[in-house]
Amino acid sequence: MVTAKTQDKNKEFLELDRKYVNPVLARQAPIVAERGEGSYLYDVNGDKYLDFTTGIAVNNIGHCHPKVVEAVREQVGKLMHTSVCTHHTGYIELCEKIAHLTPGDLDSVFLANSGAECVEGAIKLAKYATGRPAVINFRGGFHGRTHLCMALTTSKITYRDMYEPLQGGIFTTPFPYVLRSQTPDDAQKVVDYCFDELELLFAQIVNPKQVAAFIIEPILGEGGYVVPPEGFFKRLRKVADQHGILLIMDEVQTGFGRTGKMFATEWEGIVPDIITMAKGIAAGMPLSGFAARKELTSKWDAGRHGTTFGGNPVSCASALASIKVIEEEKLAERALTAGNDIIARLKKMAEGKQHVAEVRGRGMMIGIEFNDAEGHPSKEWGEKVTKHCFDNKLLVLACGYKGHVIRLIPPLNASDREIDDALKIIENAISEK
Ligand SMILES: Cc1ncc(COP(=O)(O)O)c(C=O)c1O
Repeated sequence: MVTAKTQDKNKEFLELDRKYVNPVLARQAPIVAERGEGSYLYDVNGDKYLDFTTGIAVNNIGHCHPKVVEAVREQVGKLMHTSVCTHHTGYIELCEKIAHLTPGDLDSVFLANSGAECVEGAIKLAKYATGRPAVINFRGGFHGRTHLCMALTTSKITYRDMYEPLQGGIFTTPFPYVLRSQTPDDAQKVVDYCFDELELLFAQIVNPKQVAAFIIEPILGEGGYVVPPEGFFKRLRKVADQHGILLIMDEVQTGFGRTGKMFATEWEGIVPDIITMAKGIAAGMPLSGFAARKELTSKWDAGRHGTTFGGNPVSCASALASIKVIEEEKLAERALTAGNDIIARLKKMAEGKQHVAEVRGRGMMIGIEFNDAEGHPSKEWGEKVTKHCFDNKLLVLACGYKGHVIRLIPPLNASDREIDDALKIIENAISEK
């Protein structure tokens, strides 16, 4: 326990952390957070950090939004848990809300605890409803850290290495990562290449009639904030329909206003068969879910899937309050206008800087990708920029298979001044020699 009133409580806590906390949990910033308010985190020493990580796209409405805090406090005093032993109002109301928010006819909802858990559930549903055993994932995707989700994840070797054998029946096909392709100046060629590879996969490795689902992120998250070219998803939807394969969009990182729409899938003009969601759903309370067509879920016999804690009343109250804030404060719209402005300013800052390979994104899901002198992904620049930002009290996260992309994931309600402050720091960081 930290008892002494010393100057540096961070240091004392971190010593205890080293002693008692499992070191597998890789933390980015060496500070011990005590309090969050809006766009800021405060550590145990009282130092203030501008938080453009939002706990990995979770605190979409900032830290401790007063309306969510009030809803959670009220719920804690009323009912904290029933599990599947009863129904409860928050669960039903949240499922109704999600059914209305998701595109098309995805109006049958299951609630779980984490991103990985909702991905597991979605894949189980797809297998059960289709009676097919295989799944196709896309290179660079991240879907979680359980054994099934590891097998679906190809964003970085760290997540899979040493855990073989992973679950079988999962077949990986390319994602259109245009910048790192053979034809970075021709996005359409990259899309054609991806579909040629998929056809080869069907011809050589897995019979499409054995495939239950495609699982894909609308924008690669951990894989580097990669936005696929226009038209990619329409073609994928067509291939899925042609073979009776379900399309699962993993919106765990992209959902709840982050990209300028409630769900990023809305940008693509398609309706998937299942959408998974988590992170931004409940302002920091643990909650996830997946929405599917009733026609699929009606085939899933009761008891074939379940969870003790999923859809907990306090998490549901938090989600309902948080979604209300996103809607009432028009935060998806804000994410789009402010995000476009941030991207334009970053592109301008990047002019003439060879080490900035690309600035890209959608809404407030923004990536800056770095090159080394030979034009290869630069982990060094990723680390240098993260450190410069941290030293100047701005929290950002790296992603990509080499940590060569810095992602900016501000609260959707970050003020213009907070954005200006962050961009000034980033400009200095990318201008370092
Ligand atoms: C797209 C996507 N799917 C699934 C997950 C797994 O979520 P969790 O860490 O809550 O299990 C993540 C986490 O980053 C994610 O970004």
